[in-house]
Amino acid sequence: MNLSSSLLNRTTVKPFTWALAAMLGLSGLLTSVRADQMADDAAVARTRKQVKMLDDLYKTAVVLITTHYVNDEDDLAAGSAAVALFDAMKQKGWHEVRLLDATGLPIEDKNSPRDEFEKTAVAKLKSGEKYYEQVVERDGEKYLRAATPVPVVLEKCTMCHDHYNDVKPGEPIGALGYTLKIE
Ligand code: HEC
Repeated sequence: MNLSSSLLNRTTVKPFTWALAAMLGLSGLLTSVRADQMADDAAVARTRKQVKMLDDLYKTAVVLITTHYVNDEDDLAAGSAAVALFDAMKQKGWHEVRLLDATGLPIEDKNSPRDEFEKTAVAKLKSGEKYYEQVVERDGEKYLRAATPVPVVLEKCTMCHDHYNDVKPGEPIGALGYTLKIE
């Protein structure tokens, strides 16, 4: 190989090698971005599943307690017991749940929808959606905020909330608002 052909080789091969390396690097980067995205989606799906499990657990407990233990207005309401349970779970560092009013006439004012998420969630659930969620960031950590409807499941509910009688059949009178860390 003479000098000029070896120079030619170097000058043509080099840009090609660089382009190839750049393409491989870019596709590696894209693959890792896609892998990160898939891992994020899987984490959100796991968290959503946990919300559904908790929702069944809490609602089943409220219905069982109301059916078997709440007989008159002076008894401890299952809703009050649930709020105490939600506080305990938050204190222990698990998740946050809020019992929300969707009628505008809550027994306790603190149960009125407070922030944008809660207000939008209650409006969506009242318009017939069965579930509403949003991924939010707090102090660099991701959280799933989710809301599910609370219907008038038992006749007994109206014993303490008599205005539930005025609600259209099937329309939720409340909601449970969850905040779970995505991990
Ligand atoms: C024995 C009375 C009683 C019965 C029966 C009762 N609740 Fe309540 N409910 C309460 C009280 C008291 C609160 C306030 C709890 C708190 O925030 O500490 C409450 C709160 C609520 C809230 C939050 C909004 C608000 O009014 O503050 C919803 C939603 C709710 N109850 C739904 C229901 C449903 C559904 C049933 C039937 C399964 C039911 N309640 C049965 C007494 C009752």
